[in-house]
Amino acid sequence: MPVRVWRVDPSSPDPRVIEDAALILKSGGIVAFPTETVYGLGAVYHMVEAVRKVFLAKRRPMDNPLILHVSRESQVFELAVDVPVEASELFKKFWPGPLTLVLPKSARVPGEVTGGLGKVAVRMPAHNVALRLIEAVGAPIAAPSANLSGRPSPTTAQHVLEDLGESIDGVIDAGETLYGVESTVIDLTVSPPVLLRPGSVPVEEVERVLGVKIAVPPFARGLEEAERAFAPGTRYRHYSPWAALVLVEPRGALELSSVAERVRELAAHYKSAGRRVGILCTDETIHSYVDLGVELISLGSRGDFFGMAKRLYPSLREFDSRRVEVIIAEPVEERGLGLTLMNRLRKASSQRILV
Ligand code: TXA
Ligand code: MG
Repeated sequence: MPVRVWRVDPSSPDPRVIEDAALILKSGGIVAFPTETVYGLGAVYHMVEAVRKVFLAKRRPMDNPLILHVSRESQVFELAVDVPVEASELFKKFWPGPLTLVLPKSARVPGEVTGGLGKVAVRMPAHNVALRLIEAVGAPIAAPSANLSGRPSPTTAQHVLEDLGESIDGVIDAGETLYGVESTVIDLTVSPPVLLRPGSVPVEEVERVLGVKIAVPPFARGLEEAERAFAPGTRYRHYSPWAALVLVEPRGALELSSVAERVRELAAHYKSAGRRVGILCTDETIHSYVDLGVELISLGSRGDFFGMAKRLYPSLREFDSRRVEVIIAEPVEERGLGLTLMNRLRKASSQRILV
């Protein structure tokens, strides 16, 4: 069966499309759909065979658990037990939206969904299509990002088809996603709460609502030496283009001129070794590289981490389509969405160079 592609208007999706896609899901199929962060690959959470198909299609290790997407707060209490009051405060403030909470799992959630863990990750996406699809199915939808495991997450239906076109039943195409980077994942089963993955909601905003400091372990910053079993997805290489990515990082405070100088040297070095080079830069630095004769993509202004995060994955995929072999990337400060950007860049990198 060829993959179905439904094009919809994100603000008022055709109800017939939602019904068609829901029917496929309810009969055990897997369908990709847009959320406000990235496209997800959905299966009805209690249909274990469908959940297995999701892992197979993505070539994802079975011990890396999936996020369950709900359309109503009441569904959380089916999926989780002993939900702490902090969770309700966060629902009120951030849902629907890109915040995923890890809670103690209820017996209803199959172990296949949580990679055998006693905890379950839940979020309510802020996207019409996603919410209506969950409503039409009548049950939460388990959905990882709809990319091949290890690749940058998909921000368009085209990216989904590039990665998974052969192995899914359909994709609902509602254009590019709003944030372009995944949800923030916070474990609320421990005290203080732990950031498992920085994402579209800055961790500082969650801290303000909770009135406590959230623990940010080194792996949440993308520092692999501290990879831990309690953040399962973090053990694997992630978000990577086919090209090798070399990340330049400051030892201390970020000084843009020394970063740019090092990026230039590295680009010239790889170019003279006969490699096709790309530089992932910013509006503030792009002028330093124009004479090098390499592929340049700016993530936008350093004053706009939101825009930079949104352009990151499409830019990595764009370098691939330009057949770039080595990407040299600049760092940003690790505050707000800068923490998210640095996590993704470090995880995508095959080498980090300190200046
Ligand atoms: O924005 C998003 O979160 C997107 C959209 C589709 O909702 N989804 C997404 O899913 O990024 P995925 O599977 O690519 O990433 C889920 C992350 C992984 O790092 C995984 O390890 C973590 O959430 N996670 C899921 N369930 C968990 C659990 N029970 N305990 C700890 N971490 C969990
Ligand atoms: Mg993913």
